[in-house]
Order: sequence, then C-alpha cells, then structure tokens
Amino acid sequence: MTREPLVLGIETSCDETSAAVLRGERELLGHVIFTQDVHRLYGGVVPELASRAHLRTVDDVVDGALREAGVRLDEIDLVGVTAGPGLIGALLVGLAWGKAAAWGAGKPVIGVHHMEGHLFATHLEDPGAEPPFVGLLVSGGHTMLLWVPAWGDYRLLGATRDDAAGEAFDKAAKILGLEYPGGPAIQRAAASGDPKRHPLPRPLLNRGERLGDPEYYDMSFSGLKNALRLLVRKLEAEGVLADEVPHVAASFQAAVVDVLTQKTMRAVRDKGCRRVVLGGGVANSRALRDSIREKLGRGGELYAPSPRLSTDNAAMIARAALFRWRRGEVGGLDLNARADLPFPGLTRESAAVARG
Ligand code: KG4
Ligand code: ZN
Repeated sequence: MTREPLVLGIETSCDETSAAVLRGERELLGHVIFTQDVHRLYGGVVPELASRAHLRTVDDVVDGALREAGVRLDEIDLVGVTAGPGLIGALLVGLAWGKAAAWGAGKPVIGVHHMEGHLFATHLEDPGAEPPFVGLLVSGGHTMLLWVPAWGDYRLLGATRDDAAGEAFDKAAKILGLEYPGGPAIQRAAASGDPKRHPLPRPLLNRGERLGDPEYYDMSFSGLKNALRLLVRKLEAEGVLADEVPHVAASFQAAVVDVLTQKTMRAVRDKGCRRVVLGGGVANSRALRDSIREKLGRGGELYAPSPRLSTDNAAMIARAALFRWRRGEVGGLDLNARADLPFPGLTRESAAVARG
C-alpha cells in the first residue's frame, strides 16, 4: 500500500502566522495558528507590523506544527505555501520560508491561492463538501459567489463591487465603537438587538434584477456602510447611541446576511444545485449560516468550516496544495508572491465584475 502524502502548509498572507501538517486529504496531524493581536490597537491590520510579526514567529509556528505531528521536515513530501493574494510583505515571509525549507529538504514547493484554500477548508473536514456546489467565499479581503462544477473549475457569478463582506463588518464595528475584528464583535452585540428597529438598505437587491444583469449576482456594501454612518450620527445627536448599539449591530448584520443569502439562493435556483459551500472568515457568522440553511430548506446541503478552519489557517493551504500537486503543478525556486495573484481556474460567468 502506498503511503498517503505528508503536506506541510504555510500561511502568512495577512495577520495569522500558521503552519499545518496534513496527511492525505483530511488527517490533520499538526496545526498551529498564531493570531497577531497587535492590530487590535489600530482597528485594522497594519501591513508593516504584520510582516515583522510573521518574521518573528514563523520558525516557532512551523516547528510547533511539525512537533505536534511528530514529523520531521525531511519526512514531508511537499510544501504548500500561500503565494497570494494578500499583503506582499507578509506573503513573502511565508513564501521565502517555504521555498527554503523545500529546497533544503529536496521536496517540491507549491504556491497556493489563498481563496482556493478557503474553498477547500470545509472539504478537509467533511467529504460531502464536494463539487458540484455553489460556493460563497466571504472574507476580510474578498467576496465571491462561485459555481463550482469540479475542483479547479471555478465560474465567477458575482463579486463585491467595493468593500468585501468581512471588511464591511470590520468598518461597521469601527463606526459603532466595537473592537476588531468586527464580525465577531457585531455578532456578540447583535445577540441582544432587534434587527427591525433601525432598518438599513439591501444594496443591489429587490430592484427587479434579472439573470444576465451585472447587478443580479454582484454585491455592494459601501452604501450600506454610509447608511450606517448616517444612522449612527443621528442616534449620537439624539444622545441615545449607547443604548441603541445592539439594535444597530443587529440591523447591519441582518442587511449583510440578507444580501449574501439572497444572492446565493439565486445561484442555487439557476444552477439547480442545492449544495452550498461557505468559506472565509464571515462563514463563521451564525446568522449567515442559519439564514442560508433556512432558505435551502429540507433536502438542501449547507457546508461551512468549523471556526478554526474558517478564518485564515495553514490546514486549508496544505489541502489546496495537495490538489495542485496531484495535478502535477509544482513551482520552482522562482515562485514569487503576488498581492493580486489571479485565482487559478477562475472564469467569469455572465457579467460579473472580478473585484474584491
Ligand atoms: O478569512 P479571514 O480570516 O481573513 C481574510 O482572508 O480576509 O476573514 C476575516 C474576516 C474579518 O473581516 C472578520 O470580521 C470576519 O472575517 N468574521 C466575521 C465573523 N467572524 C469573522 N464576520 C461576520 N461574522 C462573524 N462571526
Ligand atoms: Zn482568508
């Protein structure tokens, strides 16, 4: 019997330094995620601080994952490392480490697209999360609605035209005086709020969009953020903001969730496929999961990663690297990081705008 390949995954695209040792498709032998909390002081990620923190911790994080797995570096069969998209200085730390380790051990290195990693995260935990499916990737940097007939074949249906969904949560939290990252903070505040008390708009929704219109699948969150800002200003002037924060948070969360759910359900109907796979940090949102699950109804299948695998992590990078390696896609030492790395296998369906 042939041995399952051992993959070392490394992720440093934003503010998590992470390493994982994966055996085969889903045996996670070691996994360390170091979240840089220095960014909390600034209410968002400061790129230069992120690069420096990666540099300081990457050795220990990789060592930690290997130790947990009980595996030596020379026993690894391949190294998969995030090559983009992300913060260029941050990406370079992991990429340089991964290339050097692979070269030292005489093993192949695979540059992984961070969002393909997010798409594979759920499959790592649950073999049911397999194509064909409607994919919704919602992170701090990206928002994409995909039709995935097969791994490696990604049809972009729609994307955000401005802020990503996670970014919208982060900015809204800042406006409301809540902490970073904004998604979890808004979720906590919203738990005791009434989402109907201060209705907010649902951009690019309910205006009679039809299949083929760019607005049909595309999303936009910056107008919603401005509506929130105006509402907060009004409540502040009335001197009632502190008491209203839970209601405003609930209302904002409901608006984002409603847009994401309805766009996803359009794809579910049009593709005749009731399997939906979520990826990215916003997939953590309980409200989003509940809403899509409810709309899918009985017979629908919703797959969402566990909290640890929904935000940035190296396990998903190792999993995507395994897929690319099996297809013979191995990088050389000239492999480079790109802040705007194109998504491999992504084609645009209809008039989707591939931004965000
Ligand atoms: O995928 P991720 O860890 O990083 C990127 O690749 O961007 O996603 C981080 C994003 C942040 O914007 C954070 O606010 C959001 O995921 N997030 C959430 C929740 N948990 C994390 N958004 C909404 N609800 C949540 N429960
Ligand atoms: Zn991410």
